[in-house]
Amino acid sequence: MSTSWSDPAVCKGFDDYEDLPEQILGYRTVFQALQLGRPEPLLLLDYGCGPGKVSERVAGTFGKRLIAVDTSRAMIEIARAKRLHPLIDYRLIDGTLAGVVEDNSVDGAMTCYVFINIGDEKHIRHIIREVYRVLKPGGAYAILDTNPDTTGVQFSTFRNGEPGRQYRHGDPREVLLNVPGQPELVLMDHHWPKAMYRDALAEAGFRHVEVLEPTLSQLAPQELQSLSAKGVTEWRNEWKTPPFVIFRALK
Ligand SMILES: C[S@@+](CC[C@H](N)C(=O)[O-])C[C@H]1O[C@@H](n2cnc3c(N)ncnc32)[C@H](O)[C@@H]1O
Repeated sequence: MSTSWSDPAVCKGFDDYEDLPEQILGYRTVFQALQLGRPEPLLLLDYGCGPGKVSERVAGTFGKRLIAVDTSRAMIEIARAKRLHPLIDYRLIDGTLAGVVEDNSVDGAMTCYVFINIGDEKHIRHIIREVYRVLKPGGAYAILDTNPDTTGVQFSTFRNGEPGRQYRHGDPREVLLNVPGQPELVLMDHHWPKAMYRDALAEAGFRHVEVLEPTLSQLAPQELQSLSAKGVTEWRNEWKTPPFVIFRALK
């Protein structure tokens, strides 16, 4: 069983979730991996954009154009209602980029917290091959997911999997998200070891695959100071244990 992203209540719960750990230890590393601070890339693909929070940050902060796609009508509706932006083209897709994005047409691509939602490894591999097809040669790709090696650890806003339980390839894995002022949002992910991502990237033709696992203790003191300005006071295991994993690869 997987999370039903066609359910508007699940989509709203995810949209209401305060994603500060993800911003600091996940998306930030994705933005660095894609070198968004440079004049290039100009056009990015956000595959599985959800409610558009990440695309909106990329457009607003870095001034990049994005094609933001998702299979959930409810998510695309939230994105268009709350995060319409002249640089973002939100598109509802049916699980493939075929007929939506042309070959060798985007400068960079990201897939954030999407593959953990897919229980069929063949489908994940198909998406990675499609991303390879649409990237320009030399374009960077970043995949961000919850870390399969830190299941059961309580982080400040979520727990991914049950403590003490061993998960195997593709197993369903319960995630508990703390949503401000609401009951915990329970999602059902799938467990994919890091080797699956590496193999799928290599099989698609990606090279220079790097695996990044940031923790708070790796941040510079000035960076930590600017985080406390964002209002985070109660960090938990994020200091030493990486809640997320980022794969960076080049076409
Ligand atoms: C946890 S949300 C993440 C949204 C966004 N990337 C973010 O980081 O805020 C997962 C999203 O993946 C989408 N998704 C799941 N399977 C997909 C697929 N096969 N193709 C495209 N999107 C998919 C869901 O509809 C949902 O919007």
